[in-house]
Order: sequence, then structure tokens, then C-alpha cells
Amino acid sequence: MTQLIQHILQKQNLSKKDIVRLLNSDETERKSLFAHAAEVKEAHVGKKVFYRGLIEYSNLCGKNCLYCGIRAGNKNAHRYEVTEEEVLEAARYAWENKFGSLVLQAGERSGKDYVRRIERLVKEIKEMSNGELGITLSLGEQSEETYRRWFEAGAHRYLLRIEVSNPELYHRYHPQNKIHDYEARLQALHLLRKVGYQVGSGVMIGLPFQTMEDLADDLLFFQEHDIDMVGMGPYIEHEDTPMYQYRDQLMPKMDRFYLSLKMVAILRIMMKDINIAATTAMQAIDPMGREKSIKVGANIIMPNLTPSRYREDYLLYEDKPCTDEDAEECKRCLEARIHMAGGEIGYGEWGDSKHFARRRKS
Ligand code: 5AD
Ligand code: SF4
Ligand code: FES
Repeated sequence: MTQLIQHILQKQNLSKKDIVRLLNSDETERKSLFAHAAEVKEAHVGKKVFYRGLIEYSNLCGKNCLYCGIRAGNKNAHRYEVTEEEVLEAARYAWENKFGSLVLQAGERSGKDYVRRIERLVKEIKEMSNGELGITLSLGEQSEETYRRWFEAGAHRYLLRIEVSNPELYHRYHPQNKIHDYEARLQALHLLRKVGYQVGSGVMIGLPFQTMEDLADDLLFFQEHDIDMVGMGPYIEHEDTPMYQYRDQLMPKMDRFYLSLKMVAILRIMMKDINIAATTAMQAIDPMGREKSIKVGANIIMPNLTPSRYREDYLLYEDKPCTDEDAEECKRCLEARIHMAGGEIGYGEWGDSKHFARRRKS
């Protein structure tokens, strides 16, 4: 049936039915999918892989997403917040090593002091690097005013995963209350766009009860919302979470991995000029997970810069990689890996989403 796959791959626009068929591709068929996605990638975004040095700023979180290891209700998580000096030190490392950009990620928190602290950190990182380091924030749902303050301080990209685009599933994986509301999350994505950020989103793949149709809808969601950057990866169970009870209903980890690779490849074909991340969760299942993602369409990688002493505590899921390494080890390790995957590192470049630049011009 590779002929059918070839036929689908020649289409200008993929329908939901086409996407589902591609997601269901067997081992031979998926090779055609991956080869085609690699060609699309080369033609539209080239070989360059851009770095976003990742600082996992804090695992304190006010929310209780049912799948997440650092949810507020997990009393076994040891909570931390990286100090200001350490953030600046990590930022300096990123700048000196020509990483181009930084991602500041943390659980979701609010409050005046917190908003001010982040604002100050963003300003300080900008000043320290003569405005050269690009800053991406991944700090959850916030008010329009907060988004604006952080934008004006110098952040220019924001990641907020929709997690799962089907509202029914969304409510199944989150507590039923105001702070875990699907509509509010959608609204936050719109606010980010309005304020002027390049907007990133993403989903988890292989969640319990999630179907191929749901995943096809996730990809169509990114298209419909004209998302500039996407980070998605396999769902990985965590013992201290309510969703662990469904672990026996999950597909095997390797299947979740290949499904995630297919999602990356199909998305690259659908949205040719966006930025797609090779996520850490891919590597949690397959030691070469991120390299494989790069081969089939991803062009962004996030080397971990979190100071070593905190890494073990930012455990969103089991088997998270790089928890015993430091920034220097991850840098060396990644360089070798990206070259192996036939990529080139875009040192010293922001590597903004071409999609965003085009939308601005039109
Ligand atoms: N498996 C995979 N990804 C997870 N995340 C949270 N918990 C898990 C898990 N168990 C992801 C969410 C969140 C991001 C920071 O980590 O998608 O947006
Ligand atoms: Fe908090 Fe994000 Fe985990 Fe939800 S997924 S509990 S918002 S860190
Ligand atoms: Fe962290 Fe390889 S990237 S150890």
C-alpha cells in the first residue's frame, strides 16, 4: 500500500482522513513518509538546527494537571527555584557559547512579586547579552498585562502547549475547575499573539483514550491557529500522578515514540516553514530520539542549561534524560549528535520562525 501513501504525500493539502492514514502507516510506509518530510524540511528550512538553551527555572506550580510529575498535589516533589545569579550565569554561558536563544521554563505561578521577578530577569539577561540573546518564555497562562510586561522587558517568543486539542479529553486530563479550563487556555494563545509574541504550542502523544483522529485534529489545530512553533512529544507516565492508574492501557513506549516521529514528519509537510522542536521526551524513550526527530522535520533543540543541582527535581515524567549532566556535557553531546543526524548548528542566530516573519510581511 505504499502507493496510497505516495499518493497522499503528493497532495497540496492533507485532509483529516489523509493524516489518520499517515499516522496508521506501517513500517515500510512510514519510511516513505519520513523521506518525504526530510525533503520538505531541507527545501524550506534547510539543514540548520537552532539552539534554545533551556533553564528550568522552578518546579513550583499552582496547577494540578493529572499527568504531570511536578503538579502542586505531588508532595513527593522537592521544590526549588533557581537563584537570580544562577539564571544569569546560565544565560551568560548560553551567550558566550553562541546559543542564540534561551528558554525560561517553569510551573505556572502568579502574583505581583513573581511577575516582577521574571520581568527583572528578562531585562537583566537582555542587558547582559547586549540584546543578543533571544528569550522565549514558557511560564503558563498569565493575564494580558503580564504577557505585555514580559514582552516589553524583552521576551519575544512564548510557548504554551494546548496539551490536547480535543476539549473533552482536555477536561479528562485536568481537574474540573476555573484554573484548568480549555477555553481559558485557547484565550491565552490568542492573547500571546495579540501582544506580539511568536507563539509556540504543542501536544502530548499517546495519552490514554487518545485516538488517531484526535492526533490528526491536533495537527489541524496548529494549522488553523497559524502557530509559529511546535513542541510535541510522547506522553510518559509518572508514578506520582493520578493518570498513572491508566498505565496498563497505554500503547508500548516504542509505539508512542514512532507515533511522535510521524506527528513531527506530517506537521513538517503541513506547515513547511514553522519551527519544530526535537523534544526531550523523545529522548526519554529512545536515546537517539531527538536526532531522529531532526531527520524527519524538527529544526530546534533545547540543550539543558539548568544548574545540575536542580535537574533531578524537574521531573515531569519518568526517565527524563540529562539529569546527571551539566551544561558543558550536554553541549558536547549535542554537537556530536546533531552532526551525526546531518544537521548544522545555527550558532549565534536567533533562528526565528520563518512562518512568523512571513505573516508579519503579508
Ligand atoms: N509526559 C510527557 N510530557 C509531559 N508534560 C507534562 N507531563 C508530561 C508527561 N507525563 C509536558 C506538558 C507540558 C510540558 C512542560 O511538559 O506538555 O506543557
Ligand atoms: Fe504545572 Fe505545567 Fe505540570 Fe500542569 S503541566 S502541573 S501547569 S508544570
Ligand atoms: Fe544532555 Fe546528551 S544532551 S547528555
